[in-house]
Amino acid sequence: MNDFQDKTIWIIGASSGIGAALARELSYRGARLILSARREEELKVLNRTMGGGHSVRALDIADAASAKKVADDLVAAGHDLDSVIFLAALYSPHDGKTKDIEMIHKMLDVNLGGAFNTVHAVQPYFEKRGKGQIVLCGSVAGYRGLPTGQPYCATKAAIINLAESLHIDLGRKNIDVKVICPGFVRTPLTDKNDFKMPMIIEPEEAARAIARGLQSRAFEIHFPKGFTYIMKFVRLLPNWLYFSLIKRVV
Ligand SMILES: NC(=O)c1ccc[n+]([C@@H]2O[C@H](COP(=O)([O-])OP(=O)(O)OC[C@H]3O[C@@H](n4cnc5c(N)ncnc54)[C@H](OP(=O)(O)O)[C@@H]3O)[C@@H](O)[C@H]2O)c1
Repeated sequence: MNDFQDKTIWIIGASSGIGAALARELSYRGARLILSARREEELKVLNRTMGGGHSVRALDIADAASAKKVADDLVAAGHDLDSVIFLAALYSPHDGKTKDIEMIHKMLDVNLGGAFNTVHAVQPYFEKRGKGQIVLCGSVAGYRGLPTGQPYCATKAAIINLAESLHIDLGRKNIDVKVICPGFVRTPLTDKNDFKMPMIIEPEEAARAIARGLQSRAFEIHFPKGFTYIMKFVRLLPNWLYFSLIKRVV
């Protein structure tokens, strides 16, 4: 299958989980990839397993200058970037007793600050080119505040909101902005959860859903549908009903 032939896609957060699976899926489908995350060795191994034809650019996406430098270098090296997919995130369950304010700020810097840094790095280039695609990763955890979810849920709610604004503002400039909202996917991130995750799927299934979504006209890419439609329904509940139901569940 070569439906991503001639597409150049920058994946930020490619060293594990959904990002690594997406890299394999898009590589199989013909895309040229730029693979980013902090762990360079993991990215190099991933590249080798895909034949070695992609570029590895390690970076800390919380650092705006590094993100800009990678984007500028790509353009200077003649890469016609078509799409950037921001998947980087940190997660640590928050039980309300933990008062690790440093970890909270780290999560804000990577999960949300990283999204702004990504947009800041590529928007001028896409505007100049007159086209482009920016894909941010939210979560169904951003639909409503969840128990033990903050601050992760808060960053994901903000990502959805940010993507909506950008979709409106940049759509006028022929830049397609999308948001990915996964349910549970088995990755190092969810391995930290000590509860049963309903309708959890494998990263390969998530990657196929994202690849389909990248080519669709839809703003939101969400999966697995059985779970995400339940969460969408929950989002519509009035606050009093949502809070009384959630109190009974926990
Ligand atoms: N798994 C799920 O059930 C689920 C559900 C909803 C949403 N999501 C979202 O899906 C995305 C991918 O998560 P995942 O489940 O695949 O988790 P993961 O395996 O932990 O992947 C997270 C990725 O983010 C990268 N990253 C973290 N901090 C970074 C930084 N400062 N700079 C650059 N890269 C950084 C990590 O690489 P390095 O450590 O090498 O930097 C890794 O590649 C995240 O946005 C997550 O919130 C996941």
